[in-house]
Amino acid sequence: MTTFPSDFVWGAATAAHQVEGNNVNSDLWVLEHCNPTLFEEPSLDACDHYHRFGEDIRLLASLGLNCYRFSVEWARIEPERGHFSMAALDHYRRVLATCHENGVTPMVTFYHFSSPRWFAGSGGWEKTTAGDVFVRYCERCARHFGDMISFAATFNEPNLPMLLKWISHIDVPFTTVMRMGRQASRAIGSSHFGCFFLGDGEKLQEHMIAAHHRAISALKAGPGAYPIGVCIALQDEQAVGANSRRDKKCREVYDPWLEAASLGDFLGVQAYTRGRVGRRGDLGPEPGVELTQMGYEFWPDAVEACLRYAAPRVAVPIYITESGVATDDDLRRIDYIRQSLEGVLRCLASGIDVRGYIHWSLLDNFEWIMGYRPKFGLIAVDRATQQRTIKPSAHYLGEIARQNRIPDLAAVR
Ligand code: BGC
Repeated sequence: MTTFPSDFVWGAATAAHQVEGNNVNSDLWVLEHCNPTLFEEPSLDACDHYHRFGEDIRLLASLGLNCYRFSVEWARIEPERGHFSMAALDHYRRVLATCHENGVTPMVTFYHFSSPRWFAGSGGWEKTTAGDVFVRYCERCARHFGDMISFAATFNEPNLPMLLKWISHIDVPFTTVMRMGRQASRAIGSSHFGCFFLGDGEKLQEHMIAAHHRAISALKAGPGAYPIGVCIALQDEQAVGANSRRDKKCREVYDPWLEAASLGDFLGVQAYTRGRVGRRGDLGPEPGVELTQMGYEFWPDAVEACLRYAAPRVAVPIYITESGVATDDDLRRIDYIRQSLEGVLRCLASGIDVRGYIHWSLLDNFEWIMGYRPKFGLIAVDRATQQRTIKPSAHYLGEIARQNRIPDLAAVR
């Protein structure tokens, strides 16, 4: 198989907090400004995408891509509990309209890691009633712009806290986390600070799975009729040595969400790298293997491996809703894209119902605690001038999208 299906979706993704800038009512903004903080730097203006979305969507379309995956920001839409900002709701309606005007299919994520600070102050996702306010927020959004949505995902990588529990080779300074959390609660005048990244994985999983199902039912009431799914973080999990805990890891981190995704309309697979799991847990990168700016292995085979893991476990179509690589060497991004997509073609050939590839990310952006250093973008952003510069990898992916096949590398270099 050398070509992709004619209706294959080709896109690029962003997340509100990472690109919009000045998400001042969010929990992450508070954490970024604590001292000490886990964040290497604060997000500040980010890519000013809140004002420059028109230019960015037009750039995406000009490359030849036909889908834009982005998140709407709860902290902007409901900056105070129960107060919905018409201005913010109107803003996202304009973003959706701009997608349609440019022939781009919008895929909306309702929650991509950041929450309103009042939500963190009420205990965040660990609280049993968290789903009530989340569902109300989804309903409010749907009433305002549901008629313009083409695809929606309730959550982005809600299984990440469970995955992070396994990634034990990464050293998180516990005292910084505790001090940052205490300071954040004081800053918002609460005794709690329930942030997604720092929450208890098991409790979050239980509450978010329930909220996911309820949000789907609420969104299905309309207006609009569009497929609704969830985007899950997966890794190519490999067992190393005897008595590897690999299968236990998969059962804990992936399977509950794959089961939940089966009740929706599609699964979003997000794959970047592999995990090597020994008898005590994750082993970290294999010595000598090429690493990305994230400190994990350059592993484009992750896409194929994750599709093959997920496909038999879900009864719905699959989209790659994120995959990419943090590197300053754009030629390696081209290699990564090509190798990932060769894997997608092999999956298609073996009958896996994969319907699209959405690259992470459209822009170089705010990579959470690692700040602006890791470069995932197809488009570079000069943060002093906000000037956008299209990288060769963007043209490469655009060419693949236009031709619906992987062209000869020599022809595009
Ligand atoms: C997240 C993105 C993140 C990307 C690269 C995914 O886990 O959804 O927000 O920037 O990976 O680390």
